[in-house]
Amino acid sequence: MSSVEHVTPAVTEDAPWWRQAVVYQVYPRAFADSNGDGIGDLRGVTSRIEHLARLGVDAVWLSPFYPSPLEDGGYDVADYRDVDPRLGTLTDFDEMVGALHAHGIKVVVDIVPNHTSAAHPWFVEALAAGRGSAARERYIFREGSGVDGSQPPTDWESHFGGSAWERVADGQWYLHNFAVGQPDLNWHSEEVRADFIETIRFWSDRGADGFRVDVAHYLTKDLGEVLPSKAELEALPWDGTHPLADRDDVHEVYATWRAVFDEYDPPRTAVAEAWVDADRLPLYASAEGLGQAFNFDLLEADFDATQFRDVVTHNLDLAARSGSSSTWVLSNHDVVRHPTRYGLAVPGRTDDGRPLVKHGATWLLSGGTEPLDREGGARRARAATLFALALPGSMYLYQGEELGLHEVVEIPDDRREDPTFFRNPGVDVGRDGCRVPLPWTPDGSSLGFGSGPAGLPQPGWMADYAVSRLEEDPTSILHLYQDAIALRRRLLRGEELTWRATGRDDVVRFARHEGWEVVTTFGREGYDLDGAEVLLSSMPVPDGVLPGEATAWVRPS
Ligand code: NOJ
Ligand code: CA
Repeated sequence: MSSVEHVTPAVTEDAPWWRQAVVYQVYPRAFADSNGDGIGDLRGVTSRIEHLARLGVDAVWLSPFYPSPLEDGGYDVADYRDVDPRLGTLTDFDEMVGALHAHGIKVVVDIVPNHTSAAHPWFVEALAAGRGSAARERYIFREGSGVDGSQPPTDWESHFGGSAWERVADGQWYLHNFAVGQPDLNWHSEEVRADFIETIRFWSDRGADGFRVDVAHYLTKDLGEVLPSKAELEALPWDGTHPLADRDDVHEVYATWRAVFDEYDPPRTAVAEAWVDADRLPLYASAEGLGQAFNFDLLEADFDATQFRDVVTHNLDLAARSGSSSTWVLSNHDVVRHPTRYGLAVPGRTDDGRPLVKHGATWLLSGGTEPLDREGGARRARAATLFALALPGSMYLYQGEELGLHEVVEIPDDRREDPTFFRNPGVDVGRDGCRVPLPWTPDGSSLGFGSGPAGLPQPGWMADYAVSRLEEDPTSILHLYQDAIALRRRLLRGEELTWRATGRDDVVRFARHEGWEVVTTFGREGYDLDGAEVLLSSMPVPDGVLPGEATAWVRPS
């Protein structure tokens, strides 16, 4: 393999904190429950700060904790400037932020600007106010098609399955790209724009250090009187002019947000969740825009040397183009956990390299009866994690991955919550399996999650992954995460990465700085480290030979 060097601005003492941060995603309803009602809450987060501090993360990103009917796990927001009473109060938020800050941990909150909840006062008002009203102008209402307007305006489909339009009592239809309970906002409305500025200020003033921006590539739309069909839409390029997504004019919105972020000291940060062509990601990540963008390429890659290496090369190039740093993600609240993904048969890829099906989807559909190599998946996950934690840029961890948790398949249909399950019967089981409450202790009614039940049921095997149990075992994955994050903090200097030749297609090696190199064996065969000093490894390294499917951080001899 050839040697390519990427040089991005060096991290100095005064580099912005987020450039190479480790950010831990908390899914609040499943993290820790302080009052035993089975729902994780903000006081629960505060009560478990020691865990986060020992892990050594730089920041916590909280998935939505706002008042919500929970039609999409809280991504249906009924009030952007409050806390869901089931999760606590604004005072609890302030206390949580204070406690996290006291431990040197920054706080990132999730902002959901493409759609509100149907329970948001604006939507309630829009329903009551009727056709042609100013209240309906905040959303995207249209007359139906067919002689009596009883058919949806177009054949567009929602991301969660079924029509993207829902009819209201007076016969009009509204657009929802996601769940029925998530009406899309009209970003031509000045009131909508002003309200989000207020929201950003509200949380920034309360101590939020940054924002994760949900489906940042939607928001602005260009919908005339005559709407294109699904087929017509699909034929249009995503080049900034598409009527529904990734429009150039969305960056006018982010420029106004940036102006607000920069009023604060230090400036508030933002990371875009933008599912767009790679070439367009730098627009979101630029310093004039949100500042950083997720790349989900590692999350979509198989455990494969060529894929991992290409993903890194490509994304470091993209980051260099925007001047931002890259992000790395192996798991989040929307996908099958990575130890499980890596333990399943590889689903195959389309000609342009996309996974044929969402990885893990058929295993979930089979009810977990398709073969799963739990140990192999865990081994590969340890290797992938050490690989990713050594890359230049920010690492986003998802709660429970530090415990090596597998996806939970054992959820009865009548306990499932995800709208993708209900709208795609027999096709998509949905995302509940990575949202099961965390196990903190091997016993108790919800394995230490709280004193009561667990919202989504925890299978018996979860007890083996309990935090207290893993803390006692120095060889556990939890200790690997703690050690890796601590060592990373000590070793990090600039953001350079230099590939090193290995003479093997299944072994990837790169140098970060003088004195720190990283080797991953993607195949089953071991690799002789040639006398290098092992600083940390995902598996024991007997006689200086890194075993297969393992990563080592080494100091070359
Ligand atoms: C992306 C979020 O990550 C996902 O959980 C949510 O369902 C959609 N955006 C819609 O808000
Ligand atoms: Ca609770």
